[in-house]
Amino acid sequence: MNHDTRSLAQGVLVGDRRSLARALTLVESARLADGAAARDLLSRLRASRRPLARIGITGPPGAGKSTLIEQLGLRLVDAGKRVCVLAVDPTSSRTGGSILGDKTRMMELSRKAGVFIRPSPTGGGPGALSARARQALEVLASGPFDYVLLETAGAGQADTGVADLVDVLVLVIAPGGGDELQGMKRGVRELADLIVVNKADGELLKLAQSTAADYARSVPAAEHAATVSCCSALEGQGIDELAQKLSDLAGSRVRDEWPGTTPAAAGALGRLNHVALAAPDLAKAAAFYRDVLGAEVSAPKALPEHGVTTVFVRLPNTALELLEPLGDESPLSGFLDRKPKGGMHHICCEVDDILAARDRMREHGVRILGDGEPRTGAHGLPVLFLHPADCFGVLIELEQSSA
Ligand code: CO
Repeated sequence: MNHDTRSLAQGVLVGDRRSLARALTLVESARLADGAAARDLLSRLRASRRPLARIGITGPPGAGKSTLIEQLGLRLVDAGKRVCVLAVDPTSSRTGGSILGDKTRMMELSRKAGVFIRPSPTGGGPGALSARARQALEVLASGPFDYVLLETAGAGQADTGVADLVDVLVLVIAPGGGDELQGMKRGVRELADLIVVNKADGELLKLAQSTAADYARSVPAAEHAATVSCCSALEGQGIDELAQKLSDLAGSRVRDEWPGTTPAAAGALGRLNHVALAAPDLAKAAAFYRDVLGAEVSAPKALPEHGVTTVFVRLPNTALELLEPLGDESPLSGFLDRKPKGGMHHICCEVDDILAARDRMREHGVRILGDGEPRTGAHGLPVLFLHPADCFGVLIELEQSSA
């Protein structure tokens, strides 16, 4: 596909809807061929990026997020703000039903001048979404908007990744959502700035109030304690107050700098995911970590395509990956020939965008093992290995971050 990124960038800067839509399609594209054009577009836009307030709205399905976003958006527009909405669905591909796919949703907001609404990007597998959502936000931040409302589905692990992308995170729940609370990853509650019990109207009003009280009790009294409130997007109750809280919070937080999105940081190393240790006898090594060192140890998992069996040792801040050779062609055999007792085999760090990371390595003359195409690693996410001879003797694994 041929992309005129210069005119596309110009269209984005003035908020031309068609250009915005095309630019988002480009950065959301999973196609390798579009990667270079997407990076070119983003670097053009970076020069002109403006500060805008990024509000994340997350919560389980059925909490009424879309209705709430529409009401919030209308309040902001009435207050003279320019608003765009981006929906990100970390859990399902398009076939699972995109969040805003129903055109009747946000009808009123979408008719307002200057408002831009973008439904869920297409799927493309886990891991790629965080990087793409970040880039989609970058595109929107270059347009003439004051607020971007980022809607995400579900209330699982992916939401904690969304927290990194926004200035203010709102968790929306339905009255009596105690079951979701149980299943919800602890992190989401703790990362939320505001917890809103929606649908506080009619017969559900009392239940909503008691749910809010339950949440207020369950939120740990840390320095970063979320405010819990009720609202009814349907009846418009509590929305003005919510909009006010959001604008206060956003006003104190909006950053000019976007960490991790400068060109120098494209493909840069993120968190340490694990340190891998080769062991000649996996069962013995796992027992040692479990019984002697007192760590939590997973069941063994065979990865025939990598020629290893793995056991994960979970530590509070990272993990150890115990590796035993599997099959005749195991890449671990040579290592254990040299070090029969075992030893440190590789380190694994996360990257936001594994293809950008690969480009970055190649630009610096660092060789990628194998054919250079990412393979599926132990966590079901794309991984690459860098040649140890180019990395001061250390085998480095890069894993696409999952959030
Ligand atoms: Co590894």
